[in-house]
Amino acid sequence: MEDQIKYLINIIKGNDFHDVKPPNIYNNLKKMLGKPLVANVDYDSETLEKQSEVESMVNGIYQDILDSHRHINNHFEIEKHGEFVNRSLTIPLPGYYKGYDANHSWMLYWLTNANCLLGQQENELEMKDLIVEKIKTLIVDNGKGGISGGANQLGHLASSYAAILTLVLVEEFDLLKSISSNLYQWMMSLKQDDGSFIMHYNGEADTRSMYCALVIGSLLNLLNDDFTHGCLSWVQKCQTYEGGFAGVPGTEAHGGYTFCGVACFFLLNKSLDNLNIDKLIRWSVARQYQLEGGLSGRANKLVDACYGFWIGGVYAMIETFIKAPIFDRDSLKIYLLNCAQDSVKGGFKDKPNTRVDFYHTNYSLLGLSCSEYNFESGDLLAYDFKTNEINDDTNVSPINPVFGLPHGKAEACRKYFNN
Ligand code: FPP
Ligand code: ZN
Repeated sequence: MEDQIKYLINIIKGNDFHDVKPPNIYNNLKKMLGKPLVANVDYDSETLEKQSEVESMVNGIYQDILDSHRHINNHFEIEKHGEFVNRSLTIPLPGYYKGYDANHSWMLYWLTNANCLLGQQENELEMKDLIVEKIKTLIVDNGKGGISGGANQLGHLASSYAAILTLVLVEEFDLLKSISSNLYQWMMSLKQDDGSFIMHYNGEADTRSMYCALVIGSLLNLLNDDFTHGCLSWVQKCQTYEGGFAGVPGTEAHGGYTFCGVACFFLLNKSLDNLNIDKLIRWSVARQYQLEGGLSGRANKLVDACYGFWIGGVYAMIETFIKAPIFDRDSLKIYLLNCAQDSVKGGFKDKPNTRVDFYHTNYSLLGLSCSEYNFESGDLLAYDFKTNEINDDTNVSPINPVFGLPHGKAEACRKYFNN
């Protein structure tokens, strides 16, 4: 209690937030269990029924920890996650991945990124050659058609983004250089008069496609005035009355789109003064739920580990701007380690009673990193990380939240292309 009061007083006094020692995790858990459940209201709906199921599962897990006096934060199974990722990169994909046939470049990014976040250096592994050879099979017409998600498929901005991040992770900059001017032409062919980009020939434009184009442009040093023309005003229109960002103007705010929208301001080197920051903070902090400690993607929906990054990354970006902490790091970490981690086979899942997958493994690790580091930035794209001392160290790498990469990777690529 005393620690909590000191913590709050320090925040109110406006002290440097990374020097403040947040409350102890065990007390945190009691606090999380101390409020009535959200779903305990006296009317029925499908959403409440689902919320109630999640709350009773999570409540059971946390109550069990409290009853058995187990320490909740000392079991990050780093080796098991490493084995899970390496196994996934080397064995044929299980049958239920057939629905991912347009996501080959994404799967490479999720697994390679997870490996790097766990401290493995892909460029030192023989795996690097396999990864690069695989990506070459996805490059369409030397980049003139972008990069696809699967062999013989259409080039797609999101698949291109994932493939390029993978090449950045393994530091294969020469290959990127050889296709960068073709990629520029291809992306310009996707640019619309209103400033947005469509995902692919005849495709849809949204905050995801804008983010993917700007990430590629920023990494490969392609962000000239023609490229960025109209981007800021288009993305500004996607902030909704709730405060988060939607896919396109006039639709519902969502964590995935909000991540993309907010990151666009950084990529365009525009301050968050260019959006409604108060509303954004209000909507973002409402994504963290009292009992679960995890984050949801939108109002009245369920927590899911992947929002540890889609929303956790938004928190990180906001923190660099307002220079104060805006979420409960311990609670997010408690959710990720106790409700999403598979401590036997390795990997992470959305929530209890679901199956681990590559996507949730990558975004949970990125989320864990957001919960373990404080984010500060002078120059919008140069991050200065401070370890958050209260959390036991899981040894997950610090990240650059704008790119969703371990810290240093995007920076090395930008340096290569700026020379
Ligand atoms: C809703 O899913 C999901 C969306 C509306 C879009 C999510 C967008 C992202 C995750 C961002 C993608 C980013 C890039 C870079 C391509 P749902 O209804 O199943 O989930 P929910 O119930 O949690 O809202
Ligand atoms: Zn998810």
